[in-house]
Amino acid sequence: MAEVEGLTDANFELYRDLIYRESGITFTPTNRSILESRLKERLREKGLTSMVGYLEQVMASKDELNGFLDSITTNLTRFFRNQAQFDALEKYVIPELINNIRKFPGTIRIWSAGCSTGEEPYSIAMLLSEILPKAWNFEILASDISLKCLMTAKEGFYDINRIVGIPDNYLAKYFDKVDGGYKVHADIHEKIKFDYHNLKNDSLQRNFDVVFCRNVIIYFDDVAQTVVMGHFWDAMTPKSFLFIGHSESLFGMKTKFEFLKTEWATLYCKKE
Ligand SMILES: C[S@@+](CC[C@H](N)C(=O)[O-])C[C@H]1O[C@@H](n2cnc3c(N)ncnc32)[C@H](O)[C@@H]1O
Repeated sequence: MAEVEGLTDANFELYRDLIYRESGITFTPTNRSILESRLKERLREKGLTSMVGYLEQVMASKDELNGFLDSITTNLTRFFRNQAQFDALEKYVIPELINNIRKFPGTIRIWSAGCSTGEEPYSIAMLLSEILPKAWNFEILASDISLKCLMTAKEGFYDINRIVGIPDNYLAKYFDKVDGGYKVHADIHEKIKFDYHNLKNDSLQRNFDVVFCRNVIIYFDDVAQTVVMGHFWDAMTPKSFLFIGHSESLFGMKTKFEFLKTEWATLYCKKE
């Protein structure tokens, strides 16, 4: 079969503009080679060789556009990634919510935005199951732009190499050992609603007490990051908390979120 053609400067610009417009994900000359290799893989899978030909398909079909965006995302994740942030959730955010903000027992609502294959929302769900007082409940929305990732997340099956990071007592309590790996228990699974959502749009979901959006905005430029933060602001309760990735920052951004340093990790809060 003929070789997939390379990405010319002109085609790079066309793909880059389309990806940015549709998702906020920003490719620069520095990470152009990542885009090129993912594109080539996508074309090979489809049995195509022409970059312009494929671009035409992407622009003509919403399904192809979604599949294409899925294929260029970076989905690296793991259970209890950045433990210090989970410590801050356990030791600062949840006590603050139940003792000082919400006070009366109810449901804590959490959004894992850019949840990839589910390790982040399942980690949050296990932790909350452990620490929330009996009278309190919780629910988690886990969303991503990658349908492939969401399918894995929904299945809740992780092979043996991917369970590193789960404490032994959690593994025994919240997972069943099945052929080749571990399957999350139904009572944890049912706390999480998995949904396709592109962060460039308003989800129209409201009343989240905590938002996790970690290692996602790193792929966006300043303008797209500001738009996403605006959507989070609207989706959150008047007193609520936002975790972004360890290497991400809202410094210099036009946003009303306040920086908060806890003993365990830094985060942002919304105060109205
Ligand atoms: C590197 S993973 C981070 C997963 C997890 N939050 C963590 O920190 O381990 C980034 C995820 O963001 C998703 N993503 C990227 N752009 C997005 C967008 N515009 N809307 C929704 N999700 C997006 C990707 O599909 C990917 O699964």
